[in-house]
Amino acid sequence: MSDLPSFDRMFRLDGKVALVTGGSRGLGLHTATAFLLAGAKKVFISARKNAGPEGIDQAVEKLNKLGVSGKAVGIAANVANTDEIARLVKEVQKTDDKLDILVCNAGATWGGPFEPTPDASSQKVLDLNVRGVFNLARLFTPLLEKAGTPQDPSRIVIVSSTAGVTVPHVGEHGTIMYSVSKAAAHHLSRQLAVELGPRNITTNTVAPGFFPSKLANGLIEILGGEQELKDANPRKRLGEPADIAGVMVYLCSPAASYVNGEDICVDGGVRYAQGRQSKL
Ligand SMILES: NC(=O)c1ccc[n+]([C@@H]2O[C@H](COP(=O)([O-])OP(=O)(O)OC[C@H]3O[C@@H](n4cnc5c(N)ncnc54)[C@H](OP(=O)(O)O)[C@@H]3O)[C@@H](O)[C@H]2O)c1
Repeated sequence: MSDLPSFDRMFRLDGKVALVTGGSRGLGLHTATAFLLAGAKKVFISARKNAGPEGIDQAVEKLNKLGVSGKAVGIAANVANTDEIARLVKEVQKTDDKLDILVCNAGATWGGPFEPTPDASSQKVLDLNVRGVFNLARLFTPLLEKAGTPQDPSRIVIVSSTAGVTVPHVGEHGTIMYSVSKAAAHHLSRQLAVELGPRNITTNTVAPGFFPSKLANGLIEILGGEQELKDANPRKRLGEPADIAGVMVYLCSPAASYVNGEDICVDGGVRYAQGRQSKL
């Protein structure tokens, strides 16, 4: 028999404190929900807007009705802005002197033809998807370091995209700078894995394929709609909340304490789907 102590806790997050940026909707809200269901003590969610049907307040209200002991707390902050990130750190420190899990999920995209690309769109995408993620990791490191131990390191998870490992869209609806920003996010994660590993912080990347969301729905329509994308996917569907929940809980749980600097694509394998079922 092998020695697997505490196997029943291997995929649990009991007692953990997490922060999920972009936690008010979409993949960030799926992640925050999963963390609370997996036993997290507190999940901070952050986004720019507090009010409205997609704001932080409605998400916190829903999360706090899950019927678990853990609590959701909302803090508005624009994580493309370094001063705002510094303020976010201070807000967290008002109640918690350490942080176990940082999920850098908030992201922006932009699509359009190559030559007329407005410079502001490239700046927006890079500021949030790359510079903002770097500064989130940098400014939260003291709190993450306090929480990590050799046996149970604290975790940074960067939400990238399969656009960071493929060239998904060029031409009229090209997403070149988005794709570049996500490729940078992948490599940032590897750099942080080596920089912060000795300080008991691991860093990994989750790269989703298409999940219906405010950010993705426009592009899904341009590409022919959900059915067309489902038909082209080896798993014959798009991503669902549980697909993100599973990989996030895994990467932040004791099961992944020795996984550092890895990319996990969650796309049903569609990025490999150049080959077709043979008719020969
Ligand atoms: N859905 C997909 O198919 C897909 C595929 C690949 C990768 N991704 C990646 O997954 C992540 C989440 O995307 P999603 O599809 O869940 O998008 P979404 O539903 O549009 O949610 C984006 C979240 O980020 C917040 N946000 C946006 N800009 C922000 C800023 N400057 N500062 C703080 N928060 C900000 C939004 O709230 P506010 O607007 O109130 O700030 C919202 O909470 C992104 O990094 C995206 O690139 C998504």
